[in-house]
Amino acid sequence: MKRDLLSLQDLTGSEIDDLLKLTNQLKQGNSPLSSPLKGKTVALLFQKPSNRTRVSFEVGTIQLGGNCLYLGPDEINLGVRESIADVAKTLSRYLSALVARTYTHEDILELARHASIPIINGLSDLHHPCQALADIFSIKEKFGRLKGLTLGYIGDGNNVCHSLLQGCAKVGMHMHIATPPKYEPQSAIVRSAKEIAQKTGAKILTTHSPQDAVQNADIIYADVWVSMGQEKETKKRLKDFKGYQINAGLVKQASKDYVFMHCLPAHRGQEVTAEIIDGPHSIVFDQAENRLHTQKAILITLLGSKS
Ligand code: CP
Ligand code: NVA
Repeated sequence: MKRDLLSLQDLTGSEIDDLLKLTNQLKQGNSPLSSPLKGKTVALLFQKPSNRTRVSFEVGTIQLGGNCLYLGPDEINLGVRESIADVAKTLSRYLSALVARTYTHEDILELARHASIPIINGLSDLHHPCQALADIFSIKEKFGRLKGLTLGYIGDGNNVCHSLLQGCAKVGMHMHIATPPKYEPQSAIVRSAKEIAQKTGAKILTTHSPQDAVQNADIIYADVWVSMGQEKETKKRLKDFKGYQINAGLVKQASKDYVFMHCLPAHRGQEVTAEIIDGPHSIVFDQAENRLHTQKAILITLLGSKS
């Protein structure tokens, strides 16, 4: 049966662990198979721009011996030129897997319902699972462990925040989330993460205080204040998120060996100062590099075969 990666709810804690191990092997240059994607074609169906997700999936697929196609917003015109169901059924006849980046998460679910090939979420308004997996790998690479570490997330309770929440809960990491009022992560996602966290020993805290969220944090995480598709809200958001900037004052409350993380793209002077993102604690480009290695592990897991 085909498997999708729509959110981190699709993976168990031990499957995440296996993916991290495979990622590590791939990063060391030890692929378990010579060309696991030989004869396979992966397409990227993207309704929004991308640097990391697009390039890392394209390069990763090629490195694994497969072929990759990019289908930008004007090519398929998802749901406008033809229904999402018809797009999913047609592409399933040509491809081995589809990575989709959509505005609404419902569109990814609809693709997955009608496709007979694995659908991988390359970012929707609700989730960014590939990012969170690369982030968890980057944290393990840096600290040598995950359980018991504290991640302080400051900013918007958005797609990146939701995927980190699910990921942290599953691997036993504490997550403290500070958002302005009305920008909290979705309550259903928080509730389900808290249920999982009870079993893994993770603690989930939601607050409006950035100071509380970074207190003794091992990791401080930021994302943009205005996500793709929210451009019309820019003026209001810049005002609402004032006070949620990660700067030299705020990081004083974190653990002395904290790392700064950001999924990128970043806006220096908004969610983070240049001093912090370009400073010695920042691991943002390790995160970006690790997108490549983690996604290769995802591709092998979902569709690899011995060649
Ligand atoms: N972090 C991330 O997904 O970056 P892109 O939007 O450039 O793909
Ligand atoms: N929250 C951001 C993440 C970009 C990688 C967005 O959706 O635009």
